[in-house]
Amino acid sequence: MVQRRGKSSTPESSVIEKKIKRGNAQRQASAWRGSQTVLFVCVALAGCGIVGWLYLSQTDDITETLVSRSEVLSQPRIFTVQCSDDYENYKRFPGCTPQKCGRAVADNVVTREEAHTLKRLAERGLSLGGSDGGASILDLHSGALSMGKKFVNIYRYFGDQIRDIFSEEDFELYRDVRGRIQTLIAETFGLNSSHMYLTKPTFFSRINSTAPKTTHDEYWHPHVDKVTYGSFDYTSLLYLSDYGAEFGGGRFVFMDSNANRTVEPRAGRVSFFSSGSENLHRVEKVTWGTRYAITVSFTCDPEHAIANPALP
Ligand SMILES: *[C@@H]1O[C@H](CO)[C@@H](O)[C@H](O)[C@H]1NC(C)=O
Ligand SMILES: *[C@@H]1O[C@H](CO)[C@@H](O)[C@H](O)[C@H]1NC(C)=O
Ligand SMILES: *[C@@H]1O[C@H](CO)[C@@H](O)[C@H](O)[C@H]1NC(C)=O
Repeated sequence: MVQRRGKSSTPESSVIEKKIKRGNAQRQASAWRGSQTVLFVCVALAGCGIVGWLYLSQTDDITETLVSRSEVLSQPRIFTVQCSDDYENYKRFPGCTPQKCGRAVADNVVTREEAHTLKRLAERGLSLGGSDGGASILDLHSGALSMGKKFVNIYRYFGDQIRDIFSEEDFELYRDVRGRIQTLIAETFGLNSSHMYLTKPTFFSRINSTAPKTTHDEYWHPHVDKVTYGSFDYTSLLYLSDYGAEFGGGRFVFMDSNANRTVEPRAGRVSFFSSGSENLHRVEKVTWGTRYAITVSFTCDPEHAIANPALP
């Protein structure tokens, strides 16, 4: 859905848009509620100072759920945030370089059945290898597959046998889904989709609660995609399994200065955002079960474009 500014009476105007202020209104509101409670507790008890300190230090962490697992969005839910100046360090590409930044979640772009098919593809591919730690990836573009403490190239390692594992239809679905996500991002941020290019890394991930064995397994650190991978301009995640049903932990967290804002994974849910510092984020540690997702990344710079994957 195209995101409109101002008031319009088109059906699109029902797209839920929330402006997230980078200020501290929320923290102030919370501190005010906190002080009211402290006052009450102080009347009830004597140890005012200690109780107040305990209360305020515990309410310091503010977490908001942007979209929960049980919700099913019939239209994308869009949250705008002010762009960071990260993009100024790079060449600008009209029709693509972020001018409007934010994050959004959509449940109406990939069906649960398609997500299930892609998850089976991920399971088959990842069953050929897998990290010794809890986090494995499979990159259909480069062929990179986690194996033990390193990576192998599935296309080289398994040669023609790979056709016993992946079909042409699997790749077609993958390409089709990637195209839909690209269109969605273009519509949401007002871009020309033909000026956006797939970039690397774009990969399947499988995470469970096994302890890390190398730094490759440490997926939970806060990071900014544009800082980690200079070519990224828009990042998207397609979830292939359900938070709370197939795994615990593993929520996606936008770390804003005034709150941590979470997206709960749901099979078929697409979450996407501009890749700069306005979207500092992390993934919580998975505590049980297995979490599957696909990261699909886009760049505005044709020099960093990668081709759709194809069976060799
Ligand atoms: C967000 O979570 C981190 C821990 O992951 C915490 O250190 C930080 O204080 C939280 N931020 C807010 C604003 O609650
Ligand atoms: C996590 O996955 C690895 C394979 O990558 C497997 O060896 C391990 O047993 C799994 N751990 C749990 C807790 O299921
Ligand atoms: C999008 O870009 C393509 C390729 O440069 C161009 O042909 C097309 O006219 C552009 N579309 C719009 C709506 O600007």
